[in-house]
Amino acid sequence: MMRTAYCGRLTAANVGESVRLAGWVNRRRDLGKITFVDLRDRTGLVQLLFRSDDANLRDAHTLNREDVIAVRGTVARRSGSNINPEMPTGEIEVHVDELQILNRSKTPPFLIEGDGSDTTEDTRLRYRYVDLRRERVQKALELRHRTFQATRSFFAERGFLEIDTPFLTKSTPEGARDFLVPSRMHLGSFYALPQSPQLFKQLFMVGGVDRYFQVVKCFRDEDLRADRQPEFTQLDLEIAFPSGTDEIYELLEGAVARVFHEVLGVKLDLPFPRITHADAMARFGIDKPDMRFGVEILDISSHVRGSGFRVFSEAVQSGGRVAGILAKGCSHYSRAALDKLQALAVGAGAKGLVWLKVDEGVASPIAKNLTEKELHDIVSAFGAAPGDLILLLAGTGIEKPLGELRLAVAREESLAEDAWRFLWVTDFPLFELDEEGHLTSAHHMFTSPHEDEIERMEADPLHVGSNAYDLVLNGTELGSGSIRIHSRALQERIFRLVGISEEDARQRFGWFLEALDYGAPPHGGFALGIDRLVMLMAHEQSLRDVIAFPKTANGMCPLTEAPMPAAAKQLEELGIEVTRRP
Ligand code: AMO
Repeated sequence: MMRTAYCGRLTAANVGESVRLAGWVNRRRDLGKITFVDLRDRTGLVQLLFRSDDANLRDAHTLNREDVIAVRGTVARRSGSNINPEMPTGEIEVHVDELQILNRSKTPPFLIEGDGSDTTEDTRLRYRYVDLRRERVQKALELRHRTFQATRSFFAERGFLEIDTPFLTKSTPEGARDFLVPSRMHLGSFYALPQSPQLFKQLFMVGGVDRYFQVVKCFRDEDLRADRQPEFTQLDLEIAFPSGTDEIYELLEGAVARVFHEVLGVKLDLPFPRITHADAMARFGIDKPDMRFGVEILDISSHVRGSGFRVFSEAVQSGGRVAGILAKGCSHYSRAALDKLQALAVGAGAKGLVWLKVDEGVASPIAKNLTEKELHDIVSAFGAAPGDLILLLAGTGIEKPLGELRLAVAREESLAEDAWRFLWVTDFPLFELDEEGHLTSAHHMFTSPHEDEIERMEADPLHVGSNAYDLVLNGTELGSGSIRIHSRALQERIFRLVGISEEDARQRFGWFLEALDYGAPPHGGFALGIDRLVMLMAHEQSLRDVIAFPKTANGMCPLTEAPMPAAAKQLEELGIEVTRRP
């Protein structure tokens, strides 16, 4: 047997035991008659002691970082001054009698015990198999594993079946581009990798599966960010005959609470608070509010409707509004800091930024444009006290810039408390306008409208609400879902409204529409981004830190160097000619 114990698990209770260990050399120190080696395995480090006068151990002083060895020895208590309280196994060491060098390693490209700052992320990912040995990565992967396990047992216990769905399939639109896979047997035809299992899970409901879930890879060709990967993992689920959205909220709350309890030992307060999309936008300027701090948006239109300051009065009179946030204790912000906030607001669509510093009096570039009463009304509406700063925007479309100002102030002032603040955002609008001004689904095209608003879908589509909801944690969208459309006629109306012709709908979704004709039950579901959940639970900033083999921001895998040009023979077999290269 090569090993009888794990390095990181040895304690004073093992003193006197003979053990066999195996792992990697973390560090070697030669002290004349003895050589110390820190040996590492998945569980941590233990100190090995080699006596140089032992002929069997001559090779110990040749050991280098990351050499792979196995040893036999005896666990011994360290003498007083050698005890290392920093190290979990710091009370003991292993006196080695036998050393076997299993493999040599080149000098590793970075330190395993470091925090990764001695190298670049590209280098870490290029040598990911070395990087995986780092404690932080090991911890993240274990957390990921335990999250998967807890989730699976939760849903299995509640009668859900985990069923996998095809990867070589037809497009499932979720708002991104598809990854296409050319077919050799059908030259000129392509499979699309699923952006989600959306349509298949709906077919499960038509098929009487009743309760489905899956931990599943999804593929989306979209611009990457820290919280987006081209392939990522969802906890995907669907139920038939839901008793409204509440049943889905309760299921997810139960699942997330179970994961937090089992994996982090944290007890979450249930149920999670809920807010409608409209309220979220009005109060926080964003559809995924971070609830770890307040700084809510306040509308002061009524105080300035008749103001002599035309920027304000005209904004209100022409259908816009004047609103802002209170930055407590920020009246000391410099001109440069305010300019930065202004640039942020303008970048997000505001026309300009008005600031008021409340101290003895009110200092503001527009102070002379407002009456004493108006200034007083604004200050008291915000409940501002000396030392505070008020940031105001005027016009239409000011929610988003206000939301960004709120986040910027919270970041600058470190306002976020150390807490897990979950939130349901409900009743999203059914449609929104895309960048070209075309009507598009706000969630996806299979989301049901509010029953009592269906009538005016054609006349006033942008004011129709939907049964779509998001789960948000600390300002990150964790997941989305909806109650679906189960009537073919309604589904066809939605396709028409988003500009999909009848012919197009038949070609792209005919197979799905047909299923709605064969007894589709009411159904609804949800998909939670597991990578994002694990990222937040691990207190990491990027999905790349919690995915074993992630892609970089430009969609590359530095380890395998994918994507790569295909061999001429493969292209020939697929009938594909590459006509454009970067
Ligand atoms: P949606 O598109 O909102 O909904 O996706 C659900 C959740 O998946 C995660 N996610 C991502 N994670 C990492 N990288 C990405 N590129 C990425 N894109 C999405 C997010 C997101 O909240 N079929 C619907 C769900 C449903 O209606 O049941 C869907 O996929 O955490």
